[in-house]
Amino acid sequence: MRIRPVTTVATGALMGLSALVLLPADAQAASHGHPPVVVGHRGAAAYAPENTLASIDTARRLGITWVENDVQRTKDGQLVVLHDTSLARTTNVRKLFPRRSPWNVGTFTLREIEKLDAGSWFGAKFKGVRVPTLRKYLNEVDHNRQRLLMELKNPELYPGIERQALQELRHDGWLDRRHIKHRLIVQSFNADSLKKVHQLNPALTTGFLGSPPVADLPKYAKFCDQINPPHTAVTHQYVHAVHALRGPHRYRLDLFAWTVDDRPSTLKYADLGVDGIISNKPDVVRDALDDGDD
Ligand code: G3P
Ligand code: CA
Repeated sequence: MRIRPVTTVATGALMGLSALVLLPADAQAASHGHPPVVVGHRGAAAYAPENTLASIDTARRLGITWVENDVQRTKDGQLVVLHDTSLARTTNVRKLFPRRSPWNVGTFTLREIEKLDAGSWFGAKFKGVRVPTLRKYLNEVDHNRQRLLMELKNPELYPGIERQALQELRHDGWLDRRHIKHRLIVQSFNADSLKKVHQLNPALTTGFLGSPPVADLPKYAKFCDQINPPHTAVTHQYVHAVHALRGPHRYRLDLFAWTVDDRPSTLKYADLGVDGIISNKPDVVRDALDDGDD
């Protein structure tokens, strides 16, 4: 999914109308015949505290355009970016709120969460880094001219989060044509949640996290543009089965594999034909792919 909307149209025009129609927009099935898209997992989680602004800024400094995140909801209904259900692993919540075990995101107000240090656990130089709201996070991604693979994390814990997340995206200017076509993919492990996202805004690109049986893939293709499995589930046959289907936008289904952090694995999965690689070390993946081009 290299960024190529202009050349795509030009090439399509040269190839004739049928080729033009089948060529994808770059948030939808666009790496065909190109190296896989590189996505920074939780920003650049190997180098900076995951899911923070520092993490996406690190990804930007490494030259990484696509970043992945996880969205959840606070007790008072605010959307924040954090991976675990609990705040305990990646913040100092135990110290500040010792009696609030198991320290779940949904039991804290935004005001409380904003007091937490979400950086020190990773390294002293990140002391004081905060858990970002989705709004601040989207603004930073935009500011960095990056693109977002946004995961609704455990949406079953947060009824209505699909509509709310879309409202937030709209408020922050992420549902205009440019963002929808080129800068945004929404993914989830929860198929019903993803179906809801697709129903609420059929133009959005969506990805299912997991590896459904091949026989079930056509059902997913009704509301998903991508099937994004753990790398251990990726085989040539599985990639082929995914690619044999067209998604709701009539483009060939894409497959993004996670989480791949070393050069040999990158080359292996690129060879298997994956369309994207989600990585904690996106620079390592990018460099392996660039070398592989030589
Ligand atoms: O984007 C793939 C990956 O984020 C899914 O797993 O647990 O890191 O959210 P997890
Ligand atoms: Ca995730």
